[in-house]
Amino acid sequence: MKVLSIFGTRPEAIKMAPLVKALEAEPDLTSIVCVTGQHRAMLDQVLRLFDIRPEHDLDVMVPNQTLNGLSARMLGTLDDLLTAVKPDRVLVHGDTTTAMAASLAAFHRRIPVGHVEAGLRTYDINQPWPEELNRRIVDVASDLLFAPTARARANLESERLGGRVVVTGNTVIDALRLTVERLGSDLELQADLGARFSQLRSDRKLLLVTGHRRENFGAGFANICSALSTLSLKDDLEIVYPIHLNPNVRGPVREALADRPNIHLVEPQDYVPFVYLMQRAHLILTDSGGVQEEAPSLGKPVLVMRDVTERPEAVDAGAVRLVGTDPDRIVGEVAALLEAQSVSSTFAPHRNPYGDGHAAARIVSALTGRSFEEFAPKNVHRSTLAAE
Ligand code: UD1
Ligand code: UDP
Repeated sequence: MKVLSIFGTRPEAIKMAPLVKALEAEPDLTSIVCVTGQHRAMLDQVLRLFDIRPEHDLDVMVPNQTLNGLSARMLGTLDDLLTAVKPDRVLVHGDTTTAMAASLAAFHRRIPVGHVEAGLRTYDINQPWPEELNRRIVDVASDLLFAPTARARANLESERLGGRVVVTGNTVIDALRLTVERLGSDLELQADLGARFSQLRSDRKLLLVTGHRRENFGAGFANICSALSTLSLKDDLEIVYPIHLNPNVRGPVREALADRPNIHLVEPQDYVPFVYLMQRAHLILTDSGGVQEEAPSLGKPVLVMRDVTERPEAVDAGAVRLVGTDPDRIVGEVAALLEAQSVSSTFAPHRNPYGDGHAAARIVSALTGRSFEEFAPKNVHRSTLAAE
């Protein structure tokens, strides 16, 4: 069976990497990788790290691309690719324009689609935008739905979609585990990273920030920057903010936050240094999807700058709190967590609601018809962000 994995952005690459490696190791499968290049620099960082050499690279990214321009470029080039490669199955991930376009292109060519990270929903079509629509389109077009959690399966079943649903856990936990093991065992790497971030004072608490959601462009980012500006007045705090390469994020953030002594505006980090920063952080402020899964898995509290999330498991477990983009709310919630004597948000590895590090193996088993046990977290640990 010829399996064509198609992805194009940083988070898709991180979450598809363990699966690509598992597919490559499978003697009964031929694994082919196509990157759309929806992201260029941020994608290439991940490909280098996991030593993935795509057979096909559509290189579609243009500066400040529009959703329609991007979709149109992809649909045309993907159709040529699908007719040339003739895969037996296409795999896509998540909710990006790449995933939406690739599933549609495959559906039009009557090639079966498997959706990795199926069934995430906010049930608000505008949040996150356009991802909530993208993921629903991909789920409708797919005949194999790899749901990361039981909650995601329940969403899919309630929508009566035609595809077969299997609960696999999220491949992000596979990627995170590999990275944490590498960081833990490589002393030279630890020393390099310590030196790279030597400007961070160990007597100050570290607040790690990321943000890039389209629905926060404009007023949302102005509010977020205003909150960070206020927080930077605290002299026991260091703020590290790797700024996403989207010009709608980069311009306003740099303009608003340059030259604050304890705000470090840095380039998007490779995955290993980013995991290192998550490990060092006291808390994390983000609008990212993947970080909501990773940070609680590392025992770090997360404040999410959104009104709704498609990843409610960690909110229910008390490890993630939604704070929106109101500056007073952000400042208040960060300050409360900084002042708390202890803040617990640890998911023990065997109790993580998002995965156990074996999601890629389950997906390969489902593809090859081998039997396997679906993912089920054992006793999800109740944790709390409340001040203690
Ligand atoms: C995209 C995804 C979003 C995902 C995010 C992860 C869609 C609609 N959005 O949003 O779901 O959460 O990726 O980061 O699919 N750029 C570069 N180099 C890069 C990456 C981006 O220069 O390596 C700049 C380019 O100007 C590009 C712009 O960022 O045009 C926007 O990239 P795009 O993929 O359209 O949107 P993201 O905001 O990154
Ligand atoms: N990430 C990274 N470097 C950074 C910021 C994030 O490697 O500077 C990783 C992060 O650990 C997570 C993924 O990128 O695995 C999340 O990507 P992003 O927030 O861009 O997208 P989303 O998850 O919101 O789709």
